[in-house]
Amino acid sequence: MTETTLIAVKPEIAARAHVDAAGYKAMYAEAADNPDAFWAKEAGRIAWMKAPGLVKNVDFGATSGQVSIKWFEDGVLNASVSCLDRHLPARGDQVAIIWEGDDPASDAKVTYRELHARVCQLANAMRGLGVTKGDRVCIYLPMIVEAAVAMLACARIGAVHSIVFGGFSPDSLASRIQDSACALLITADEGRRGGRKVPLKANADEALKTCPSIRHVIVARNTGGAVAMQEGRDHWWAAACDGQPKEAAPEPMGAEDPLFILYTSGSTGKPKGVLHTTGGYMVWASFTHQNVFDYREGEIYWCTADVGWVTGHTYIVYGPLANGATTLMFEGVPNYPTVSRFWEVVDKHQVNIFYTAPTAIRALMRDGEAPVKRTSRASLRILGSVGEPINPEAWLWYYRVVGEERCPIVDTWWQTETGGILISPLPGAIAQKPGSATLPLPGVKPALVDNEGNFLDGATEGNLVLLDSWPGQMRTVYGDHERFVQTYFSTFKGTYFTGDGARRDADGYWWITGRVDDVINVAGHRMGTAEVESALVAHPKVAEAAVVGMPHEIKGQGIYAYVTLKTGEEPSEALRKELVAWVRKEIGPIASPDAIQWAPGLPKTRSGKIMRRILRKIAANETDSLGDTSTLADPGVVQDLVENRVG
Ligand code: PRX
Repeated sequence: MTETTLIAVKPEIAARAHVDAAGYKAMYAEAADNPDAFWAKEAGRIAWMKAPGLVKNVDFGATSGQVSIKWFEDGVLNASVSCLDRHLPARGDQVAIIWEGDDPASDAKVTYRELHARVCQLANAMRGLGVTKGDRVCIYLPMIVEAAVAMLACARIGAVHSIVFGGFSPDSLASRIQDSACALLITADEGRRGGRKVPLKANADEALKTCPSIRHVIVARNTGGAVAMQEGRDHWWAAACDGQPKEAAPEPMGAEDPLFILYTSGSTGKPKGVLHTTGGYMVWASFTHQNVFDYREGEIYWCTADVGWVTGHTYIVYGPLANGATTLMFEGVPNYPTVSRFWEVVDKHQVNIFYTAPTAIRALMRDGEAPVKRTSRASLRILGSVGEPINPEAWLWYYRVVGEERCPIVDTWWQTETGGILISPLPGAIAQKPGSATLPLPGVKPALVDNEGNFLDGATEGNLVLLDSWPGQMRTVYGDHERFVQTYFSTFKGTYFTGDGARRDADGYWWITGRVDDVINVAGHRMGTAEVESALVAHPKVAEAAVVGMPHEIKGQGIYAYVTLKTGEEPSEALRKELVAWVRKEIGPIASPDAIQWAPGLPKTRSGKIMRRILRKIAANETDSLGDTSTLADPGVVQDLVENRVG
């Protein structure tokens, strides 16, 4: 089998799928030709307090220069009602969340009725603390049921949640809380991952020293570890919720009222607060979860992401719960206590649909087939991939070894900004090619442009743009609409620029080649090179730093940093370690540089711009194709960097 192998849709999958090949073509055509009629119908998949009369109202600013994105704008709803209340009559006693702990001996099951009650109790507790519609609430929790409860309780009262991944440092947490002036923080004593503890409350206490907007903190007891509690500010979850009524009126929300903010890295500046609103996001979450995973009633669905990332928002909580699924939340990691863990959990809970990241597959591949084969995996029906390009070798291993050539693989391309999946096979409709995200979903219009913005036809490669809006699209950067317009709509006027490069093959299939901006994708997590650079230069011994991505066997990309020390400072192994620890402390472990090269100087143009193209080539050890270096202010710098390359 080669990279261009076409893996046909299996007749048994097509026979029972929601959408077959003809169905996909018809849906795609209808969504393209008559988006209002198509999405008015699809809006019916969620619960409305007032059904929308208006559907699409979008301007990408081609002529106006103004960007405005609205879907279902006169509709009124509450996202938590779609995820909870409406399921109670038919499936109140069905398990909504299976929780599997880091320790294989700990698990829990929560029914829709129980989840509804817990959400209402927290909603009442939050209302009691004075949190109201439109307030921002920061959630800094591990992968415990409380994370889903907290999200839905915010939605219940119309508060806007902003989840910060538990692996982020106190500084990263603080800057996110400050940016959106959160009124409440919900955290836990500690998290658990791979047998280790994560000091969430201690980190939060550190962060809150610079966060005056936070009036209250709700703390879930998880490990039972000792933590400091500040009188008047900090409240134990149980004390705040126990005794609260198990009903709470859902706040009526306009379709375009915000549901959540999620910070993500870009090529410049600080992470931006991607803002998603309620109606369109919920429709997109439900539509894509059902069709891409071909979800059907009664199935057990497991997405291994963390709720701190967008994948966890849309495909652990909102999409599956809107569709009445049983969603599995996993606290742990793929290799603890053994490298069979994923597959043991699949067998234990009889998982039907499994969605993970290529980096996990590549890491597990290294241990060979035996740890997979000693499990059954007979319950699996569909496999998914997300977060970064999946190389054909990993795709084929996933397909053959994990899925035993029985399960289609949906390689789903999307972004924090897109709210949900945009390009992916539909399992019963679209033949797969290992390494290709295949074809766009209904309503999604991808195109390729060159660097000057000319549209490219046929089989070719270029910058990936989207020509029109879909309901799940982000609406703005929180507090900075101009940055939204600049980042996404100014590079190629009239289109949404993804920041990704892509290739379209002769069959019209899409192959995402990776970021074309200064964003690196480390183990499926986005990291802005500018963020790592500013952390490095904040160290007292560092004069200048430039960070680029480098190929990494497991993580896809690793972080390669060129560091120029201040005059008088000497490079040493101890200082290298100190800088790695410094970045971990400043941003979090996911930003740890994989390589640090001491650079007496950085290659710059005569106008002082760092030539990252050259730095990327050196980091990738492609030093025989450095290209034109004649425009450099000091071409000698490059020679030194090539000779002293690390790795
Ligand atoms: O470069 C693309 C890559 O991840 C970026 C989005 O990252 P984030 O906003 O953190 O969201 C990750 C989860 C949706 C994209 O710009 N990416 C995501 N999925 C894929 C992918 N690259 C290739 N193939 C994918 N399936």
